[in-house]
Amino acid sequence: MSTLYATRPAATRRLAATLAALLLGASAAHAQQANPARGNPLASPDDSGWVQTTTPTGRIDHNNAFFQGFGSNGRTCDSCHRQAQGWSVTPQELRQRFARTSGMDPIFAPVDGAVSPLADVSSVEARRSAYALLLNRGLIRIGMPIPPNAQFRLDGVDDPYGYASAHELSLFRRPLPSTNLIWLTAVMWDARETFTPFNPPMDAGIDLQDLRSSLAQQARNAILGHEQAARAPSDAIIDSIVEFELHLVTAQMDDKAAGRLNEADALGGPAILALQRFWIGINDTLGNDPTGDAFDENAMHLFDNWDDPGRSGRDRRGRARAAIARGEKLFNAMRMNITGVAGLNDVTGKALIRGSCSSCHNAPNIGNHSVALPVNIGIADASRRTPDLPLYTLTNLATGKRVQTTDPGLAMITGKWSDIGKFKGPILRGLAARAPYFHNGSAATLGDVVNFYDTRFQIHMSAQQKRDLVAFLSAL
Ligand code: HEC
Ligand code: HEC
Repeated sequence: MSTLYATRPAATRRLAATLAALLLGASAAHAQQANPARGNPLASPDDSGWVQTTTPTGRIDHNNAFFQGFGSNGRTCDSCHRQAQGWSVTPQELRQRFARTSGMDPIFAPVDGAVSPLADVSSVEARRSAYALLLNRGLIRIGMPIPPNAQFRLDGVDDPYGYASAHELSLFRRPLPSTNLIWLTAVMWDARETFTPFNPPMDAGIDLQDLRSSLAQQARNAILGHEQAARAPSDAIIDSIVEFELHLVTAQMDDKAAGRLNEADALGGPAILALQRFWIGINDTLGNDPTGDAFDENAMHLFDNWDDPGRSGRDRRGRARAAIARGEKLFNAMRMNITGVAGLNDVTGKALIRGSCSSCHNAPNIGNHSVALPVNIGIADASRRTPDLPLYTLTNLATGKRVQTTDPGLAMITGKWSDIGKFKGPILRGLAARAPYFHNGSAATLGDVVNFYDTRFQIHMSAQQKRDLVAFLSAL
């Protein structure tokens, strides 16, 4: 591989593929022996089966600073990033936590757990409404000012909680998983902790040093913000958190109907994921893979072999496996009309792209975008606003054009009008453990995700196709 990259020094620094193998190879061997899921501390039940995390040592180091609080509110990274929930948090578990502690668990802190930092939290009932968005959708309030250089101004705030202003917009977002980080091409929904400036599509890549720096900065800010620490802990502590999270690999390992996801020549589960080849720009949709390879829409090939009844069987289990294999094919090749996606249609100059899920989720077997390319698929559009989210009216200073959105996304970082509503496509592994989906948790289930795409991109899927696609997404 080094010869392949010899003429491409920038890419040489980005040998995340080899690195993943080196860092994580040991875990693969370990997880292969860890059997069965029950009683395995690295595996947790979820709605469709079992999710599993692997680490090089075969255990989770609960002494790591990830599990220690540095601030005044008692929170740790583990308050919002839980192993059993795919290293995010689910409303289901949060409601249990609320019931167990009468809403006093540290995650229930006014600063960003509540609908407004000024919300009344003096009684259990008051806390139940103050933390409604956390309890219903697992949303954390990210407070951010309109950037001083913005090409737009804030002309209207409809905040049901009476707090947001240009000084601090309330943006309600899901905790992204703190696992599978080695394959990140952008850190945070709006990529704001990504160390290199945005220059999509090619120069946006972060090499491993950049990734470490990005994650270190991210951890520092999480401790100062979410944990309300007066000052950040030492670099050594920050580095230990980054080392810890960088070695986590998580995927669904067992499906209630289909069984082990790495049996019968399938390639599911975290042990195989840990060996996944990857570099910035791999399988780039726009033809910018540094190896020069053309884009292959078959980005997912975990369950190819389950298409064959000879391998997967003809019983109930075999039929469930065949459904997952069909869902994978749909993900790769089902045609959709990709229109009106800022960051994609405008950048390519094509008003209509006849693409598929893998046009955007192109990193092989991982499912994020292989370069940092936040796009606007419309999740924050006014048309999709629910009454429990604030709605902001923005006016373009140059053209006077107006837009309403629940979250300006990348535009809050760059100040650019054209970046309004842009978010990154997250890594699509371990999905079943961490509902709800999208940055604002607007899709309660993977079925809702599929329905969103069906209407948004005029796919017209049959009920069977929807079931198959959900079966596949649940097996990731
Ligand atoms: C109060 C809840 C909360 C706490 C505590 C918290 N996080 Fe997060 N984390 C979030 C949310 C919400 C996001 C997404 C925010 C966004 O993108 O705007 C996030 C994003 C991340 C990401 C980005 C992943 C990606 O795909 O880009 C990482 C990594 C992360 N957190 C690690 C940590 C670490 C390490 C700590 C402890 C030092 C921590 N978090 C503490 C809520 C939390
Ligand atoms: C035009 C680009 C694009 C296409 C095509 C696309 N996605 Fe996405 N996907 C995204 C972006 C961007 C997000 C994050 C959006 C947000 O939350 O605002 C996302 C989010 C998701 C999520 C939620 C992940 C999470 O952690 O919340 C799932 C699941 C998903 N996509 C599956 C699919 C499937 C299945 C298809 C095909 C039917 C598809 N996507 C097609 C860009 C795309």
